[in-house]
Amino acid sequence: MPEVAPVRSHVPVAVVGAGPAGLMLTHLLARSGIASTAVDLRTRAEIEQTHRAGILESDSVRMLVDSGASDRVLRDGDEHRGIELGFGGGRHHLDFADLVGATTRLYPQTDVFLDLADARERDGGDVRFGVADVEVGDLSARTPAVRFTDADGVRHEVTCDYLVGADGSRSACRRAVPADARRQYVREYPFAWFGILAEAPPSAPELVYHHSPDGFALVSQRTPTLQRMYFQCDAAEDPDAWSDDRVWARLQAICGSNGHELLEGPITSRTVLPFRSFVQEPLRHGRTVLVGDAGHTVPPTGAKGLNLALADVRVLAEELERAVRDDDPDHLDTYSVRALERVWKVQHFSYWMTTMLHALPDASDFDLRRQQGELAAVVGSRAGSTWLAEAYTGWPTTTTGGPR
Ligand code: PHB
Repeated sequence: MPEVAPVRSHVPVAVVGAGPAGLMLTHLLARSGIASTAVDLRTRAEIEQTHRAGILESDSVRMLVDSGASDRVLRDGDEHRGIELGFGGGRHHLDFADLVGATTRLYPQTDVFLDLADARERDGGDVRFGVADVEVGDLSARTPAVRFTDADGVRHEVTCDYLVGADGSRSACRRAVPADARRQYVREYPFAWFGILAEAPPSAPELVYHHSPDGFALVSQRTPTLQRMYFQCDAAEDPDAWSDDRVWARLQAICGSNGHELLEGPITSRTVLPFRSFVQEPLRHGRTVLVGDAGHTVPPTGAKGLNLALADVRVLAEELERAVRDDDPDHLDTYSVRALERVWKVQHFSYWMTTMLHALPDASDFDLRRQQGELAAVVGSRAGSTWLAEAYTGWPTTTTGGPR
């Protein structure tokens, strides 16, 4: 078959990946009058069916509301004043509102995506879901290119002044950066999370993170009739090999060791979530930048993945506006430096929560008792609790505001 020439077009900003980070960026750019095209290999329905974390920092909530992307988050998102830590046979409440005057909201990533996808559709944004064969061209070109086949089978080549990789932890954009132009930092963990959705009433009003001799568990919520819970498992675990009874027995053993009895119900979804800490530096190469999971991954303890991606986007929208205005890609260096400052703080927090709460496969009794001592030091000290509360509800983003 003869090669058919692609349909060619040019946009100021092309975004690979139309999940929450990619959509939020194009939404903010559109509000500043900057046109963009976003493409995603997944269909809209596929993204809607992906279950991810459910907790929003206060600045993530503010961003959704102030940008006009969602007022539903204030109606449907439950405000949480804090969390509980379960360890050593009991449960201990941390009241973030009292400690730092901030709260979080339980509002699943799926809903953030729905609100943003609706907002983009309402505003006539150019978002193409369900495309195939995405290729990113030479990233050092003056106008980087994205090629893809749209849902109707038409091949396109979109050139742009700035290319944004918002294409998740397996990012094609990240892989297109030459090895001698970047550094990668990786930490693997010898465990994973077994995540379930269960048709049951809530077992607690807010999130409970449990440490136990049998490993970690997290009791989270979704709706009054649907609950989200996780327990520590082996990364190679087959979720379908677990009956409902076996899952409940494990969860009850972990939570029960801290006096927390769970309300059970039919399990409607089960998945194993991998654990990894990863950063690629810098987040800029030429006219290309990485945002969210494309540039960095955190383990899910502490629910930072989406919040960190949205924090990247806040900074990137500002620096991209400057780059477009001045026709100067060097503003993207400032994005990389500013974003990485927060990335490494959040890497530390996610790593700290993970190692404080999980049982290593070869943990000794000393290790277990030391972790209990660490948890007691956190909940027993206003300074310790306040630090956790600040990190959990989210450090403020430093916005430079105005032209520079
Ligand atoms: C969730 O509700 O899915 C969730 C909440 C907090 C976490 C991780 C996941 O730390």
